[in-house]
Amino acid sequence: MYRSHSCGELRESHIGTTVTLSGWVSKTRDKGFVVWVDIRDRYGITQLVLDEDRTNATLLEQARNLGREFVIQIKGEVIERASKNANIPTGNIEVLVSELTILNESKTPPFTIENETDGGEDLRMKYRYLDIRRKPVQNNLIFRSKVTMEVRKFLSGEGFIEVETPYLIKSTPEGARDFVVPSRMNEGQFYALPQSPQTFKQLLMVGGMDKYFQIVKCFRDEDLRADRQPEFTQIDCEMAFVEQEDILNVFENLTKYLLKEVNGFEIESFPRMTYDEAMSKYGNDKPDIRFGMEFGELNAVAQHKEFGVFNSSELVVGIAVPGAASYTRKELDALVNWVKRPQVGAKGMVYVKCNEDGSYKSTVDKFYDQDDLAKWAEITGAKPGDLICVLSGDANKTRTQLSALRMEMATRLGLRKPNEFAPLWVVDFPLLELDEETGHYHAMHHPFTSPKPGQLELLETDPGAVRANAYDLVLNGNEIGGGSIRIHDKETQATMFKHLGFTPEEAKAQFGFLMDAFQYGAPPHGGLAFGLDRLVAILGGQETIRDFIAFPKNNSGRDVMIDAPAAIDNEQLKELNLKLDIQE
Ligand code: AMO
Repeated sequence: MYRSHSCGELRESHIGTTVTLSGWVSKTRDKGFVVWVDIRDRYGITQLVLDEDRTNATLLEQARNLGREFVIQIKGEVIERASKNANIPTGNIEVLVSELTILNESKTPPFTIENETDGGEDLRMKYRYLDIRRKPVQNNLIFRSKVTMEVRKFLSGEGFIEVETPYLIKSTPEGARDFVVPSRMNEGQFYALPQSPQTFKQLLMVGGMDKYFQIVKCFRDEDLRADRQPEFTQIDCEMAFVEQEDILNVFENLTKYLLKEVNGFEIESFPRMTYDEAMSKYGNDKPDIRFGMEFGELNAVAQHKEFGVFNSSELVVGIAVPGAASYTRKELDALVNWVKRPQVGAKGMVYVKCNEDGSYKSTVDKFYDQDDLAKWAEITGAKPGDLICVLSGDANKTRTQLSALRMEMATRLGLRKPNEFAPLWVVDFPLLELDEETGHYHAMHHPFTSPKPGQLELLETDPGAVRANAYDLVLNGNEIGGGSIRIHDKETQATMFKHLGFTPEEAKAQFGFLMDAFQYGAPPHGGLAFGLDRLVAILGGQETIRDFIAFPKNNSGRDVMIDAPAAIDNEQLKELNLKLDIQE
């Protein structure tokens, strides 16, 4: 038997018992006549003690020579600690060692295995297995497991069936590039890894599976960010014989259940906001509504004077930043520079200090009087002590810039509290999105999304105005899920493909199987998918999904631990009928 107890288990009630523990040496302290060793496993840390009075000399010497991260097994008696440590659950006891076995030695680790480590991100990723020994990383993985278990519990309770779908498939477009896998047996042909199981889950509905879910890996070759990984996990769901309302209810209940079980957080119901409303109030389709600072559109009260910058702008829009009227000139200059950084891209910023005495001081006092500025304050909801920040220009760009400023100010003011949760549904997304570079429309969600009833005709005349039966679930400013009611008849699907620029031949080659299936009694259906990594990170009070993935990739899509991707040898290339024939 390697262990009778874990390293986090022993308490005062165990005093007097003989125990066997196994774990890693976290620390040794040698005071000459007494040696303390901290032994660690995933359950905690226990202090071991050996001294000249009670331990034989060989054993004491052996303990003295233990290196960090050695794997040891000890036997000993639980005794009361002389100086107790209230910071750890085992802090009242220690184990007087009578036997010590070294199960394995360890090289000195490249960084300290402590909650606050001295290891930088790259080093920790290279030795991720050592990083995983650290409590914060372990806690995140344990937390993820708990969330996943609760998801399965809830969905099976609701009658959902977990079905696995294949990974070696044909492209399922979700807006990113595919990762492709060459086929050895089919020369010159490739599988694509799924960007999502979208088409398969729809085929399961045709197959009568009615309520499906799957906790599933998805693969997308796209630029990476804190909330994006090339392989990530979805809680993918689909239901037949449902309308949008049915879907929103089921998955609102799932989210409420998770918030309650995992975070002890209760909320009555989730607000709903149309895409248009989210864009005009927050400049963003995934607004963080834990705080206010809603946009105030100022065109009507800012374009009547001689200020050319505003007069030539499509949109003049501002937010009231609470308490920021006290900013110094230097701080305000820094803020103006912040919005002018290329990442934000504003040309400049007008601001108005709302003084405590009710007067206003702005950077455009030359053009606007106190009555004008009072109107700006009213529209943006500014109170004495607030700072009104105003941006102007092209409507879409300006909204995006002001949204970035709103989030930045909220972060600076500590308004993005990690243990507060503000979920909402954003509904009525546009069906299509114009790609400014190519001038073509593409599906904003995916090509299987159904337009709102009666809007199909609009596709011919005003494609950008068509709204979809599509919705996103937003939590604390992050899109944690998205879905739609699907098209379930062949003709509508063919019309959609036509508007997305597919010829009938291309549509048939790529999605013929789906359109064929629709001819055999496809039920009305719809669904959604949660991004599990994002959901877990946010429930865990963080936003970087890497920290909740056991073996993540870095921002260049590399696994630096196993050193992937890597070249393959010529033999393998030949077998796959691949020639590396790159010419500039
Ligand atoms: P969508 O593309 O919106 O929808 O993806 C669903 C959710 O998956 C998460 N997500 C990601 N998480 C981490 N890294 C990524 N690269 C990444 N990309 C997406 C997001 C997102 O909300 N088939 C549809 C769902 C449906 O219609 O039912 C789909 O995949 O949290």
